[in-house]
Amino acid sequence: MKKDLISISDLSKEDIMRLLESAEAFLARRGRHGQPLQGKSLAMIFEKPSTRTRVSLEVAAAELGAHPLYLSANELQLGRGETIADTARVLSRYVHGITARVYSHHTVLQLAQHASVPVINALSDWEHPLQILADLQTMRQRFAKLEGLRLAWVGDGNNVCNSLILASAILGMEITVASPAGYQPKARILEQAKSLGGWPKVVAEPDDAARGADVLITDTWVSMGDEGEEAERLRVFGKYQLNSEIMGLAAEDAIALHCLPAHRGQEITDEVMDGPQSAVFDEAENRMHTSKAVMAWLMGERSQS
Ligand code: CP
Ligand code: NVA
Repeated sequence: MKKDLISISDLSKEDIMRLLESAEAFLARRGRHGQPLQGKSLAMIFEKPSTRTRVSLEVAAAELGAHPLYLSANELQLGRGETIADTARVLSRYVHGITARVYSHHTVLQLAQHASVPVINALSDWEHPLQILADLQTMRQRFAKLEGLRLAWVGDGNNVCNSLILASAILGMEITVASPAGYQPKARILEQAKSLGGWPKVVAEPDDAARGADVLITDTWVSMGDEGEEAERLRVFGKYQLNSEIMGLAAEDAIALHCLPAHRGQEITDEVMDGPQSAVFDEAENRMHTSKAVMAWLMGERSQS
């Protein structure tokens, strides 16, 4: 049976810990490792722009010996109406894995359903599991543990936040999400987290999430696809910002994370982004190590066992 990575909740605690170990091993080798995916190919479908995901996946695939193909959705026949299911069936005849960055989460679910090769969610409107693996690797590097960490999400209850809430539940981390009314995480994700053993808290005030936290995390106020709501969002999200004051409420050795791209002066200040507590560039680097771990696991020889 092929495996996919559509939601972070497709992974057990053991799976995540194994992937993080593997990512650390890839980091330590700095590209000078074996090529477990030699002779394989990876189709990378993008409906939206990307810097980190595209480049880290492409380089990761190449360094593992695989051939990555960047496929803009507009330039595929998908853009002219070919179905997702047929695209998945055809690509499965050529390549050994598919990653997809899509607007609707339903699209990546359909790809996984109809592809006979592993499908990896490279961001949908509902989740961003590859990002959260990099975030977890960064937290583990800084704190040498995950269980028991106190996380504070400040900002939009969006795709990245959803994956983080689920990961917290799987790994036994405490999470408090501070979002304005109307932008808080959906009941469905909170229920799923509870069913996985989590106890996510949602508050309205950023300070209430930040107090005593080990990790403060934010993301853009205006995600890809939300551009039509930009003016309203900039108005509503004003105080949901990682700045020096809020960092001052957190634990002394707290770190700041952001999946990037950052909108400096909006959800995060220069002072925090470039300050001593920022781990955002390690977090960005870890996208590559964790992507290697995921691809080697899902597309490697032992992936079928
Ligand atoms: N964090 C992240 O997914 O960045 P990109 O949009 O640049 O891929
Ligand atoms: N929430 C953001 C993440 C970008 C990496 C978006 O979906 O645009």
